[in-house]
Amino acid sequence: MNLSPRFWPIFFEVYEHLPRQGPGTRASTAKALKMCRGLPSAPAICDLGCGIGAQTLDLAELTSGTITAIDLHAPFIQNLQTKVERRGLADRVKAQVGDMSQPDFPPGAFDLIWSEGALYNIAIREALHVCRGLLRPGGYLAFTDAVWRKANPPPAIKAGFDQDYPTMGRVQDVLGTIVETGFELVGHFTLPDEAWWTNFYTPMEERIEELCAQYAQDDEATAICNQLAEEPRLHRQYGAYYAYEFFVTRWTGACA
Ligand SMILES: C[S@@+](CC[C@H](N)C(=O)[O-])C[C@H]1O[C@@H](n2cnc3c(N)ncnc32)[C@H](O)[C@@H]1O
Repeated sequence: MNLSPRFWPIFFEVYEHLPRQGPGTRASTAKALKMCRGLPSAPAICDLGCGIGAQTLDLAELTSGTITAIDLHAPFIQNLQTKVERRGLADRVKAQVGDMSQPDFPPGAFDLIWSEGALYNIAIREALHVCRGLLRPGGYLAFTDAVWRKANPPPAIKAGFDQDYPTMGRVQDVLGTIVETGFELVGHFTLPDEAWWTNFYTPMEERIEELCAQYAQDDEATAICNQLAEEPRLHRQYGAYYAYEFFVTRWTGACA
């Protein structure tokens, strides 16, 4: 589909104002972290595709570790950096613009890699290869990913995902990729429905409404706002067909 040149600026006018840039909850982050048993007392953590850092800040509170958080979109990183400074976390949390497909860190630099809703951007298999190179043997990788929950999704929802995430699979497909890339599965669980709404789709719908009012005289911007409003609307209607799954894995150190 050909996107208007105004699509991305308006997309970011929405997403930069949200508490999170994808589904998630602090409780899910805490649950996944608890599954990473035997981490050092102050683990070296990397958060890939951190957005404005909702889970980065949760990890900073839930551990005594150091966290390097990277994202491609500079305004997200500036937003996180401001919060890090305000909360006095600058000695433990470093936010930097970076591309997770070409991370600029030494091999084995991290005890734990975290990524909520972001690895799919570079394809899960490729992302697991990248993470392997960054983890010390025995280190953990915890990530969330969208998965199909039912076969034969209705065309409206299938078309939406075909555009954003054409290779999206089922839980079993991701588990297969985890094992094939030399990770062992520690566990996995489905994010609750609340993870989609409280800090993501509810504020998104509110923000889109604000922008619709602001752009009331601007047909092109209004059409883009309506396009963005489709995602939460479709989730309300077809959310049973797909889920966000948290996968907690461990790098065995074996080459795969
Ligand atoms: C769905 S959002 C999730 C953000 C955040 N983890 C959260 O759950 O709120 C995906 C994030 O990945 C970032 N991203 C996409 N491709 C990336 C890449 N190659 N390297 C780093 N970040 C990337 C986007 O800018 C976006 O912030």
